[in-house]
Amino acid sequence: MTEDLRARYAAAGQEHVFAFWDTLAPAEQAALQAQLEGIDPARVNATVAQALAADEAARNETGARVDPPPADSVVSTVGGGADEAHYRALGLAAAARGEVGVLLLAGGQGTRLGSSAPKGCYDIHLPSGKSLFQLQAERVAKLQELASQDGARAVVPWYIMTSGPTRAPTEAFFREHAFFGLDPANVVFFEQGTLPCVGNDGKILLDTPSCVATAPDGNGGIYAALRAPRAAGDASVLEDMARRGVKYVHAYGVDNCLVKVGDPVFVGVCLAKQVPLGVKVVQKTDPGESVGVVAQKNGAFSVVEYSEIPPALSEARDAHGDLLLRAANIANHFYTVDFLAREVPAFEARMAYHVARKKIPAVDLADGARKKPDTPNGIKLELFIFDVFPFCPRLAIHEVARAEEFSPLKNASGTASDNPETSRRDLLAQQRRWLAAAGAHVADGVDVELSPRVTYAGEGLEAARGRTFDQTQNVEAL
Ligand code: UTP
Repeated sequence: MTEDLRARYAAAGQEHVFAFWDTLAPAEQAALQAQLEGIDPARVNATVAQALAADEAARNETGARVDPPPADSVVSTVGGGADEAHYRALGLAAAARGEVGVLLLAGGQGTRLGSSAPKGCYDIHLPSGKSLFQLQAERVAKLQELASQDGARAVVPWYIMTSGPTRAPTEAFFREHAFFGLDPANVVFFEQGTLPCVGNDGKILLDTPSCVATAPDGNGGIYAALRAPRAAGDASVLEDMARRGVKYVHAYGVDNCLVKVGDPVFVGVCLAKQVPLGVKVVQKTDPGESVGVVAQKNGAFSVVEYSEIPPALSEARDAHGDLLLRAANIANHFYTVDFLAREVPAFEARMAYHVARKKIPAVDLADGARKKPDTPNGIKLELFIFDVFPFCPRLAIHEVARAEEFSPLKNASGTASDNPETSRRDLLAQQRRWLAAAGAHVADGVDVELSPRVTYAGEGLEAARGRTFDQTQNVEAL
């Protein structure tokens, strides 16, 4: 081990990470050394200090001003209409030019769902048995088809952000399913970063005597991960986008079975508004719903958590009877690649990590034993993807219909909400509505699933007109 390395950790007050060095086998020493060389202990200290200061400030904050977003930043396409068709055409034209990419956030560990596989592998028991990844892959394929014009095949590359825990099983799942028919050259995996976990005293925790405890850096880790080489010597995702001519991206969370992947309407709204950043929202109707809303906090765009809003403001309504603060955040973002490559790095250092106090299994320095604590013993640091909002004065907020676009899978089967049963119910209800609108009839008690290869958003169902579906089925072609 170089004395330099030990000196760097000593200077940062983190020398205890070498506590068991002399007891380790040579291979363990090599592994620990490699891990420690990849960590900058002074930066860890600074990041923890910044996060704790921001956490403290947030807890002591009184009287932050929360206002609804300016009306001219909001575009609603609830109920469709001519505007929606206009926006869709704009978005499809950009996809036809190869300018649209899709960014999937799939680095979360899905602890509430409790499945050992990545969330995207989850089967919500549709008639087809398709996983969330498969539904999304088929929507990418359909979008490419809808955007293809005059014999020229449009390509919408799909960038999939994984994390240490999800990368290998996610890639294996895609290989096992032959990339669900997509060209593997257009599916690009990359990995978000990790940060060391620290104890309540700010000391880096050891997971084993030869390994520092680390955790993924939150879905806001995407910004740094987009710029990092995908592997040693490889291009970064942003370089890959530049090489392909991708100028706009739609980013979304893996756990929404209704997500309109690469949504041309959303892309079109953001192009029409000429913004570097957009966010899709659904209408919050129940003041008690504990969801973050897009609003202005002290004059800057922000996602304001339910707990931060005084009840009277949560319940306040406008002249139409709608909640004043109703733009419920559903983790769907639009970015220009230029914003990601040039603007984010300029303010990123000012984005403070959030502090999550957790029970983190760690080695007791006194006896070298790994212990599982009963109470929170340390801190995991996370950035949120919406932490960029306050730094962006031009944001478009696109309001869409919840029943058409949002049904998150957060909790295990049998829980009260946002679980596999509600996901399945909401997707099949949507397909029933689409078939009814196309003039087909689905018998009571029957579930009909429409493959994304048949329809992306309810279009192209003319062949179903007059048909009665009296058996539960998955429709792959009409
Ligand atoms: P959630 O915050 O709901 O977390 O993620 P989760 O991991 O899915 O579930 P819990 O909280 O452990 O139960 C919202 C989106 O952000 C992604 C998730 O994969 C999901 O698409 N995410 C979350 C990441 O990509 N990286 C992270 O570090 C955390």
